[in-house]
Amino acid sequence: MEAVELALDHSSESSFESWTNHDNKEFCEKLSLHGFLDLLRISGLTNNPDVSLITDYINSANSILEIGGGYGRVINACQQMGYAKKLTAIEYTHSHASFMKNHIGNCQVIEGDFLTQAFDEKFDLILMMWLTIATFNPSEQKLCLKKCAKLLKAGGYCIIDLLISNASMEATARKPKEYCLHDQETGLDQHGYVPTTFEIIRAAAMAGLAVRQVREYVAGTAARCLVILGKS
Ligand SMILES: C[S@@+](CC[C@H](N)C(=O)[O-])C[C@H]1O[C@@H](n2cnc3c(N)ncnc32)[C@H](O)[C@@H]1O
Repeated sequence: MEAVELALDHSSESSFESWTNHDNKEFCEKLSLHGFLDLLRISGLTNNPDVSLITDYINSANSILEIGGGYGRVINACQQMGYAKKLTAIEYTHSHASFMKNHIGNCQVIEGDFLTQAFDEKFDLILMMWLTIATFNPSEQKLCLKKCAKLLKAGGYCIIDLLISNASMEATARKPKEYCLHDQETGLDQHGYVPTTFEIIRAAAMAGLAVRQVREYVAGTAARCLVILGKS
């Protein structure tokens, strides 16, 4: 039995605004490194197949912002592949931000909330990996995209990791989108809403971002995709 269990529920977007991204903070704060790595393994991302798929975008960028840096997996993977330009990560969980500050060099780590943090610079590439977008509720997801659009330099890209939506299931509203992770060690829950690719593309368009590419990949047992958005 895993320490963290995943429960899927079939709610639709309109059925809730009952949780916010902030309600998920304590779950992240108390989740052990062991629990975090368990989730990473279950997601099939231990060997960073997601980062490998976007090396071209990473190498072309002069500055990268990662939203929700976690324990530094993505930043570390960028550095391992030789990326030596400007790296910034914003992370609202104190324990994760401290870990990054202590263990990852050559990266500016901002401990703060992406939605409220003021930034004094813009970026060539903004990354939101491993379903980080899903930890924001649907209204907040739209705000995230607006903020990404504001923080991107002209010609920049924003890359969002998602699970692949099945169009026919989406059409009949049978696709499970809302989930709840339960950590047996702490008794805490994390709520999430996995938007479909269509929902993200629609919300991105409202924010002034246009889809450039969708790169599909398989990690563990899940079909995932990276949606690459550019300023329209
Ligand atoms: C699923 S983890 C992804 C970690 C890392 N990006 C990776 O791929 O390994 C999501 C991370 O986003 C952070 N996070 C969630 N909401 C945030 C927010 N509003 N501002 C900053 N960080 C946030 C969480 O604390 C957590 O570390």
